[in-house]
Amino acid sequence: MSDAEALNRRLLDEMAAADVLSDQWRPAFLAMPRHRFVPGVIWVDAEGGGFTARRRDDDPAAWLEIAYTNDAIVTQVDDGATPDTGTGRRVTSSISAPSIVAAMLRRLEVEAGMRVLEIGTGTGWNAALLAHVVGEQNVTTIEVDAVIAERARKALAEAGVSPTVVTGDGAEGFQGNAPYDRVIATAAVQHVPYSWVAQTRPGGIILTPWGTAYDNGALVLLTVDEHGAAHGRFVDNTVAFMWLRAQRAPRPDPPNDLAGAAESTTTLHPDAVAWDDISASFAVGVRLPDVSKRFVDADDGSDDFTFWAFSGPSWACVDVTDGASTHRVLQYGPRNLWDEIEAAYRWWEQNERPLTGRFGLAVFPDRQYVYLDSLDNPV
Ligand SMILES: C[S@@+](CC[C@H](N)C(=O)[O-])C[C@H]1O[C@@H](n2cnc3c(N)ncnc32)[C@H](O)[C@@H]1O
Repeated sequence: MSDAEALNRRLLDEMAAADVLSDQWRPAFLAMPRHRFVPGVIWVDAEGGGFTARRRDDDPAAWLEIAYTNDAIVTQVDDGATPDTGTGRRVTSSISAPSIVAAMLRRLEVEAGMRVLEIGTGTGWNAALLAHVVGEQNVTTIEVDAVIAERARKALAEAGVSPTVVTGDGAEGFQGNAPYDRVIATAAVQHVPYSWVAQTRPGGIILTPWGTAYDNGALVLLTVDEHGAAHGRFVDNTVAFMWLRAQRAPRPDPPNDLAGAAESTTTLHPDAVAWDDISASFAVGVRLPDVSKRFVDADDGSDDFTFWAFSGPSWACVDVTDGASTHRVLQYGPRNLWDEIEAAYRWWEQNERPLTGRFGLAVFPDRQYVYLDSLDNPV
């Protein structure tokens, strides 16, 4: 048995023991080993922040070990603009963690012969796994980045499968091979492109990572009905995928000048609205989808930090001194963002602190909305 095969089997055994890998998918994970799709240059955390390149040729054994960790591996930064001698800032492509890949494939409930559309080809690994189960002729996968798409085509061909790899904007779907039984996105959306619904047959399933500028980590499973609509529940809230390129959330920096901000205090700890409970953070994001947030640690080595919120010209910050029960709030601009966040959090509390799984998403040709418990209860 080769080193790669031994590492793959060890990983798959771990995933099976954790009940993540089903018997249906194990043969695909054996036939399409992950390292065949991991590029020769990957990106790892750099000292001092950002990402630094690591090359297979410099240390093949270390590279292979990384290929069989149960973690996502960064395969492109900054849309390919940063050379592999530089420091990457933003992750723009990755091969997802094996457990997440297996869990999503399982949720998709595919059967041999089903036609599947994947958005976000990346390395091609997920498309290869799908092709193994439903047949390569039934898989269409779309990648927006031409360099990544070409690399995936090559890796897929070398692995012995040739699904249709489209270079283009996945938001448009791919009408040429529609209708699909299943659509799976491996990039997150804030709005589900209606083309995915239109190109799925009634009864078909759409599985996509979903988030807001405030909170990105949910997974929603939609079923398409006979009237051209789709709806279904959020089924997970622990998966952080990169955004579909046109739906990237802004990442504003805190302002240098705090003049003109209104000062007040709060007894609500920012961790409550953004950190302690993923359902609270999800719900605040649903109520305030355009508000982005950020935690900035104090640079004096203490546990003090500042929580920031931004939307357009408005910003708010809450200074937290470790152990204190009252915190200073600054709010600037036409919206009082901290007040809005507090109100959104109170809404969640007053509704009995619903878990993410009580929320669902409804998608119609002209509108979409999140609901709580039932379609007739929009949030
Ligand atoms: C997490 S990676 C996908 C991982 C992939 N499924 C795999 O098996 O390696 C997300 C990918 O989505 C791609 N992407 C982002 N926006 C897109 C869009 N509008 N259309 C198609 N692909 C897109 C990114 O370039 C990136 O390669």
